[in-house]
Amino acid sequence: MKEENNYSLLRHNTFGIDVTCSKFIEFESVEELQNIVCNISENDMPLLIIGGGSNLLLTGDYRGTVIHSAIKGHEILQTDDGVLIRCGSGEVWDDIVLFSVCNGWYGMENLSLIPGEVGASAIQNIGAYGVEAKDLIYKVEAVELATGNLVEFSNSDCLYSYRQSKFKKEWRDKYIITYVTYKLSKNYTPRLNYGNIRSKLLEMGIVKPSAVQLRNTIIDIRNSKLPDPKVEGNAGSFFMNPIVLTSKYEELAKKYDEMPHYKIDSEHEKIPAGWMIEQCGWKGKSLGNAGVHDKQALVLVNKGGATGKEILNLCTTIIADVKSKFDIDIYPEVNIK
Ligand code: EPU
Repeated sequence: MKEENNYSLLRHNTFGIDVTCSKFIEFESVEELQNIVCNISENDMPLLIIGGGSNLLLTGDYRGTVIHSAIKGHEILQTDDGVLIRCGSGEVWDDIVLFSVCNGWYGMENLSLIPGEVGASAIQNIGAYGVEAKDLIYKVEAVELATGNLVEFSNSDCLYSYRQSKFKKEWRDKYIITYVTYKLSKNYTPRLNYGNIRSKLLEMGIVKPSAVQLRNTIIDIRNSKLPDPKVEGNAGSFFMNPIVLTSKYEELAKKYDEMPHYKIDSEHEKIPAGWMIEQCGWKGKSLGNAGVHDKQALVLVNKGGATGKEILNLCTTIIADVKSKFDIDIYPEVNIK
């Protein structure tokens, strides 16, 4: 276990914001976590539970306790119809994807290279290229903050939807995740229909990609669009794609016939926020040291030395511009503290 006061969070947020927290605690086992939870005092409050800090915007020093899981490792359970892989919440997500793909256990390929850790995958329902964590999550184990008790949730308990879960709503700040079990398949069913995956593969003359080829293609696509946080601080998509009524979509489609959209159901459409932000003229532009990525307008970047407040200021300016041009509200996907 690690416990430090007045601790720098620079290494713990991919935006590269240089702030501190009053106390930082890292646990390596369930027992350590239970011990921490039972000894938390009023002086330690408020608590902020972080993963890899890849979906986090810190707007100033955190006057409270930051808790981070360093539970590592994974166990494999083979079943008749697949493989259950139980992973420590502090494992790096993409290490698990790589391990699974290399072992011939399928389902995670399209989620390659998403930054962050296992625990966050179950809170955030991370997703990319037509696959979401909820398609793979079998069970979530956690410690209840109020009691220190161990709890287990099935996939359906967590009420997953697009970038949402009960952990972000009714269960917010009530549990700390310790393990996530994913169910993978031994049969490979490549999902190539999203965006430019198929055309990118065809460029390389690949029609039926192996899982490793698919993973590598996803990695290439991500690297071509998304900035490397080690080079330019960012938190991936900053905003969620709004889901609007079909009537609203139809009204806009009359004006913008090239507007991309995804049908959700007979009454709703999802409109890419990145496209709207680009239409507002923000792509590649900056406000102070906070910028909009020049290859993907959904991503806000730290142009160097940005404060969290500067990035927040850019965020609120963009939200207002999108509202004024499209009359649509967009919301941050990133956790702002
Ligand atoms: N678009 C633009 N301009 C832009 C960005 C996008 O016109 O600057 C258009 C694209 O041309 C495309 C559509 O918007 O027609 C969607 O773009 P893209 O496929 O790049 O995906 P996205 O909707 O912007 C979502 C996820 C990403 C994920 C990709 C691929 C959210 C909030 N983001 O982005 O997830 O990698 O799809 O599946 O749902 C993340 O959450 O951090 C993340 C990177």
